[in-house]
Amino acid sequence: MKGTAGAFVDPPVGRGLVGCGSTRGRAPIEPKPNDVRPPDPSRPPVTDDTARIAGVEAVPDDSTLLFTVRDPDGEPTEALLTRLGDGTVVAYRNVCPHWTDVPLDRGEGALVRNGEVVCQKHGATFQLDTGYCDFGPCQGSTLGTLDVRVEDGAVLLAEEGYRFDHLGGHGADSNGTAGGRIDFTGS
Ligand code: FES
Repeated sequence: MKGTAGAFVDPPVGRGLVGCGSTRGRAPIEPKPNDVRPPDPSRPPVTDDTARIAGVEAVPDDSTLLFTVRDPDGEPTEALLTRLGDGTVVAYRNVCPHWTDVPLDRGEGALVRNGEVVCQKHGATFQLDTGYCDFGPCQGSTLGTLDVRVEDGAVLLAEEGYRFDHLGGHGADSNGTAGGRIDFTGS
């Protein structure tokens, strides 16, 4: 978690002699550096429940892992994790850009084929490493991303203002039967 600015910084003290009292017979006040505590290597990494999504080993490289986050307004939003060939973990929003009420992962893992995630509604394919759609009715679009990072074997949510809620989908919208549809114009 981010610390509060200055949380470990004492105010400057001893910056010269202050006031009008006599200093005769007293040792001069030595300026002290600010008491900035160095990082404690024994402290555990950030793995609180609002950030930790899953262990890296739980993220498949031949499918996806569905999870739900809360956006800055507290609204649930679905996303998916997948692992690239080099071990990098990436996260995308669980929405097909063609019809935005169609999830790529319906809770059982999205179809991944030849390094691409496939929308099973109309067959659009998205490159796993970039989210770029290189085939299908929304060709040229890109999946929305969520920032994640791996720390000590855990995938942590790093998207500003978002917090992890739970693994899996969040309800009716996860089966592709609710929500609105917009046509993709390619622009
Ligand atoms: S809804 Fe995904 S390709 Fe049409």
